[in-house]
Amino acid sequence: MACISFAFKALCFCLFFIVVASRSTVRPKVFNVQRHGAKPDGKTDNANAFTSIWSRACKRISGSSKIYVPKGTFYLGGVEFVGLCKNPIEFIIDGTLLAPANPSDIKQDTWINFRYINNLSISGSGTLDGQGKQSWPHNDCHTNPNCPKLAMTMGFAFVNNSNIKDITSLNSKMGHFNFFSVHHFNITGVTITAPGDSPNTDGIKMGSCSNIQISDTNIGTGDDCIAILSGTTNLNISNVNCGPGHGISVGSLGKNKDEKDAKDLIVRDVIFNGTSDGIRIKTWESSASKILVSNFVYENIQMIDVGKPINIDQKYCPHPPCEHERKGESHVQIQNLKLKNIYGTSKNKVAMNLQCSKIFPCKNVELIDINIKQNGVKDGSSTSVCENVDGFARGKMFPQHCLN
Ligand SMILES: *[C@@H]1O[C@H](CO)[C@@H](O)[C@H](O)[C@H]1NC(C)=O
Ligand SMILES: *[C@@H]1O[C@H](CO)[C@@H](O)[C@H](O)[C@H]1NC(C)=O
Ligand SMILES: *[C@@H]1O[C@H](CO)[C@@H](O)[C@H](O)[C@H]1NC(C)=O
Ligand SMILES: *[C@@H]1O[C@H](CO)[C@@H](O)[C@H](O)[C@H]1NC(C)=O
Ligand SMILES: *[C@@H]1O[C@H](CO)[C@@H](O)[C@H](O)[C@H]1NC(C)=O
Repeated sequence: MACISFAFKALCFCLFFIVVASRSTVRPKVFNVQRHGAKPDGKTDNANAFTSIWSRACKRISGSSKIYVPKGTFYLGGVEFVGLCKNPIEFIIDGTLLAPANPSDIKQDTWINFRYINNLSISGSGTLDGQGKQSWPHNDCHTNPNCPKLAMTMGFAFVNNSNIKDITSLNSKMGHFNFFSVHHFNITGVTITAPGDSPNTDGIKMGSCSNIQISDTNIGTGDDCIAILSGTTNLNISNVNCGPGHGISVGSLGKNKDEKDAKDLIVRDVIFNGTSDGIRIKTWESSASKILVSNFVYENIQMIDVGKPINIDQKYCPHPPCEHERKGESHVQIQNLKLKNIYGTSKNKVAMNLQCSKIFPCKNVELIDINIKQNGVKDGSSTSVCENVDGFARGKMFPQHCLN
């Protein structure tokens, strides 16, 4: 009996060690930034502390790492987190990362920049505070082509299999989140906030990206809520609230050489509230590249007092004099565009603007159940504009469509 009991105890003891030993290899190593030299006093620049923690986490070969930013205000100058890393990295931000208020104190084009990384996951209840207020008055980019570059809040370039969850981005100097050449990335539960009149504060901007999901996200800002640029494919956007802002914009496209097609976009269950535009595709009237915009679906979209709810603009030219020059027609071909169950109110009389290229007319535009009334007029009567569009309509149509 004693023998059995001893054997049992020994077995338990062994099992205990096996469990502990295997857990220690599975569990990520935690780098609490505050225990590794970062100071939450809102004044000390923690850039060096953060980059050295990153480089230790990134180099670890024995397992994944968790970088933890606890509650508190961590002032942070411009930082670059560069891979490739040996293992996945979790970045948990529960505190506030505070950017320098003076824009010239960030000497790179993105305040917090991630490059060449796989399997990165950023989450937490914390805030990226871009402190943009002081730099907005210096933004004269609408009139000055050589305007000083202000930093974007957070950037991802050449990043794969990664995600951002739950964090808040507040008052960026320029755009909040920028994605370039990012593949397989999820953005969910994120909050993006800047005043409606803050210049160029795009919410999420992406070019040359693929297999991206943006869901359950609230964006209110002074420029595009989401801007989709050249070469972006397989992007799904769902349960997003946009407003204030300039809507979900594809483009502007076609201006530069070597642009790539934009295709396979699904926008579903989105509310535009008080935005200047809602569904928007803009291509330059004179273009250097001949590309395709295809397979776009917009479904279940609510418009609340939106300036231009549906706006395809292939004569995009925001800054004169090109408006008068009329150098040519856009070479961007738009095709296979489906708009289904789009409803609500428009600020202007024209609720649906489909102005396509004369030399590359829009092909296969499908309109199903559109119901957008002009806000503040008795019968809500709104209108649509069509130029060079080929397609068909079914279901409820208000305004009356103008497809031929
Ligand atoms: C990233 O995760 C994928 C699959 O989840 C795995 O195949 C790959 O090895 C991981 N890469 C790194 C750098 O850990
Ligand atoms: C990410 O994926 C792309 C396309 O699959 C690949 O070309 C690129 O090398 C990957 N980047 C990294 C950092 O692994
Ligand atoms: C993105 O979310 C989907 C589920 O919606 C999941 O299958 C996929 O693994 C996620 N990808 C990343 C990189 O987190
Ligand atoms: C987007 O949704 C479509 C249709 O539901 C699906 O086939 C595709 O895989 C999704 N893409 C991503 C990146 O989630
Ligand atoms: C739209 O925005 C207004 C003004 O900010 C707000 O009061 C209202 O609750 C919003 N509506 C919805 C449905 O989000």
